[in-house]
Amino acid sequence: MIFEQIAAGGCQSYLIGCAETCAAALIDPQIDHVDRYLGLAARDSLRIRYVIDTHTHADHFSATRELARKLCVPVVMHRASPAPFVDMRIDDGEIIAVGRLRLNVLHTPGHTSDSMCLAVEDRIFTGDTLLIGATGRTDLPTGDPEALYESLFLGVLRLEPQLKVFPAHEYKGRSYSTIGQELAENPRLQRRDRESFIETMRNLNLTMPTHITEALRTNMSGGKIIAQLLSEAAARVPFM
Ligand SMILES: [Fe+2]
Repeated sequence: MIFEQIAAGGCQSYLIGCAETCAAALIDPQIDHVDRYLGLAARDSLRIRYVIDTHTHADHFSATRELARKLCVPVVMHRASPAPFVDMRIDDGEIIAVGRLRLNVLHTPGHTSDSMCLAVEDRIFTGDTLLIGATGRTDLPTGDPEALYESLFLGVLRLEPQLKVFPAHEYKGRSYSTIGQELAENPRLQRRDRESFIETMRNLNLTMPTHITEALRTNMSGGKIIAQLLSEAAARVPFM
């Protein structure tokens, strides 16, 4: 497997490719890094076949729609995604074939209702369901601490302990963790009864992401971000 982890401002995107067929998938791309993804794919001689969002992001602008148009490939998301531009809606237990690689889909609602994890070979892309030393928050639209409890304790955390965890966010520069390590050390997973976990999640009192309204508007509708609108207007109207 060809594998690239692209970190930018705490957000993680992943390019995974089949070494035999050169087919690839790009997971959780951001709008500001489109050229970087395309450069990496070209350097590794990969042809991106799918652009995938693990969930509706509230904290950054997704590049799936723009890349899908550019590359003529489908946008892939869970079937619960509200975005009208999703081309392939997938569900729990389904498999995305990327050359000879098989991405196994786990529906893991909780952080959002459309959250999913993707397992391939020795690793799992956990989106914001499971982070290194934390979990996704459940206080944003469609978040649900009870659903997250079930997705984690009855789902992801029952997978092989040595499975490598690659999350959608990591702010301390760590590349990955494992299921076993998270079970042993993740502070949010130490109170394992349902009520305690839900209580912990309900009392996190986190601040809202900086661009939440604009991020949700663009990621859910496929509309343009304000910076794009301004630069397009400035290109047409020289005095701006
Ligand atoms: Fe998220």
